Amino acid sequence: MNKYKVVMTGGLMVPALERIQKECAVKQWEKVDPIPREILFDWLKDAEGLIVTGNIRVDEELLQHAPKLKVIVQAAVGYDNIDIEACTRHGILFGNTPGVLVDATADLAFSLLLCSARRIHEGWDFVRAGSWRPGYNMSFGIDLAGKTLGIVGMGQIGAAVAKRARAFGMNVIYYNRNRRIDDEKIGATYETFDVLLGKADCVIVLTPLSKETRGLFGREQFSRMKPTAYFINVSRGPVVDTDALLDALKTGKIAYGALDVTDPEPLPGDHPLLKLSNILVTPHIGSATTETRTAMAQLAADNLLAGLAGRPLPACVNINKGK
Ligand code: DGY
Repeated sequence: MNKYKVVMTGGLMVPALERIQKECAVKQWEKVDPIPREILFDWLKDAEGLIVTGNIRVDEELLQHAPKLKVIVQAAVGYDNIDIEACTRHGILFGNTPGVLVDATADLAFSLLLCSARRIHEGWDFVRAGSWRPGYNMSFGIDLAGKTLGIVGMGQIGAAVAKRARAFGMNVIYYNRNRRIDDEKIGATYETFDVLLGKADCVIVLTPLSKETRGLFGREQFSRMKPTAYFINVSRGPVVDTDALLDALKTGKIAYGALDVTDPEPLPGDHPLLKLSNILVTPHIGSATTETRTAMAQLAADNLLAGLAGRPLPACVNINKGK
């Protein structure tokens, strides 16, 4: 049987990779550094499918080097690295992996809030350094029960975070482009963005990166927040102006930051944000559990194999039919 030609710019969980390899001849980039554009362009000459990773920009130039491409998939829900309009112009389907990562990402968002509120990582550093003695004076954290959580970006992950927050006794308010009446049943109240900034004790950002949300949090927004506020970003780094956040944390405009995503990403080891004591940064691990990454990889494989066979994709972002 003739196998479909597929290019992969990174790794994929083994069960999904094995399914793909049964039907496809795969060229896979296995190094940690991103595949150089010229090598990728060469590989794409005869490729029908592309499994892309978030460190690759899919734009008009790339698509012009891929005349036979029918389908592009990415094992992620976010797709800010993909020019969707260009894919559509070229008649190429693009599939992502929504839904399957909701709980893992909501868990991570809430973990960042809990860890910051209770200074878990500071405590661990303190103990590991051998500094823990009776009567030690590590700084206190805050209670979450009774506090107001503001969720910016109320999609499926936002709703899952809201449920967790309610279970911890928090009041939940949210801002979203469109009001989400169904999610209000779990006890989340809609507020305008500005009102949310002023009311929230903790803000969790979950909005996708787009033209509208790039730089959504800048100096003005941080100055509207409470000086006691906790700020958590689990969406994409460029939704936040990094210099403005640095300044807000240094000057006490807000109390604490926790970031799973940064701009740039990764932050260089000597970045001034990493020198602050009121910040926690994790390396973009929102969906990084074995179960969730496997489910994402399987959905990406479903999307790929459907697109190659001319069937609708289970999770398609643009036109949902074959070339
Ligand atoms: C996603 O699914 O978009 C995660 O952030 C992984 O990139």
